[in-house]
Order: sequence, then structure tokens, then C-alpha cells
Amino acid sequence: MSILKVARMGHPVLREKARPVEKAEFKDPVFQRLVDDMIETMHEYAGVGLAGPQVHESRRLFVALLDDGEDAVAIVNPVITVVGDEVVEGWEGCLSIPEIRGRVPRAFRIKVQAQDRDGKRLELEAEDYPARVIQHETDHLDGVLFFDRMRGFESLTYLEEYGRYHARHDDDE
Ligand code: NI
Repeated sequence: MSILKVARMGHPVLREKARPVEKAEFKDPVFQRLVDDMIETMHEYAGVGLAGPQVHESRRLFVALLDDGEDAVAIVNPVITVVGDEVVEGWEGCLSIPEIRGRVPRAFRIKVQAQDRDGKRLELEAEDYPARVIQHETDHLDGVLFFDRMRGFESLTYLEEYGRYHARHDDDE
């Protein structure tokens, strides 16, 4: 496995709409290796999610840590359906926008239809934090960054100041 180069904000690949992963790709060792490398890269940079476009692969997949202590999962060709109308604001960061945190409104509860890394159908429901991660990563597949979703930029903060002034005072994250 190897650690992949992460595209940073400003790289055009982050603004492209990624293409679906085709059926034939799941059997391709190159694709399976990409998934492994994305998981390793996410861990290396202490992220909780990493999408294809962030490693210059404009394909509809991401890897994520959705629950504490769980293994990383790969989610391919995700389609999100929002459940209910509850929206919650919470802190987000992004490996493509290093050292920055900001508050982003997201749907509290979602359903996801997708495929796993072997192409098997995957359906899941998520709420709160994992739902936030899934929405953030799926946005990457459409060329959307978390700045685009913010209601305003007043909450933007560097990581150090986030730790100093915000992390302990907010009950989310
Ligand atoms: Ni991101």
C-alpha cells in the first residue's frame, strides 16, 4: 500500500463532477489497491473521510470512519436521500483544506444507497455525525467543498484556535 498525494483547494480536480465506478472496475486489482491506498492515506493524515477526487481520482467513491472503533468503510456510487427536515450545524474540516475548521449545516438524518468495494449493494441509514461525514464526502464527488455549504464565514477558524477556543465549548464533535 502507499500514501497518496492529497489535492488541496484550488486544484481543478476538486471542482469536477466525478464519474460513476463501473461494474467491471470492482474486479480490477488496480481499483482494489486504490481503495486500500485511500484508507491508508486517510489514516496517515488523521482524517475521517477521503473521497476519490481528493487523491486525483475523479471517480464516485470515498472511504470513511463512520463509527468510533470501526474499520474504515468504502462507499461507492452513493446516492443520498434526506430523511425528515432536521438540519444541524457542526464543525467540519477537510484534508484538502488543511488547518481550517468551520461550521456547516447538514441534514441530521439520511439514507444512502451505494455499493461496497466489491460492488455489492449497500444500504444504510445514518444520523448526526456519520451522516455529516457521508454528506461531506459525497459533496466531493460533485465538486462541492464544505465552504460552499456554510451559511457565513464567521465561524472559520484555524485548527490551533479551534482547539483553544471552540473544541471544548461546543458539544458536537
Ligand atoms: Ni473533505
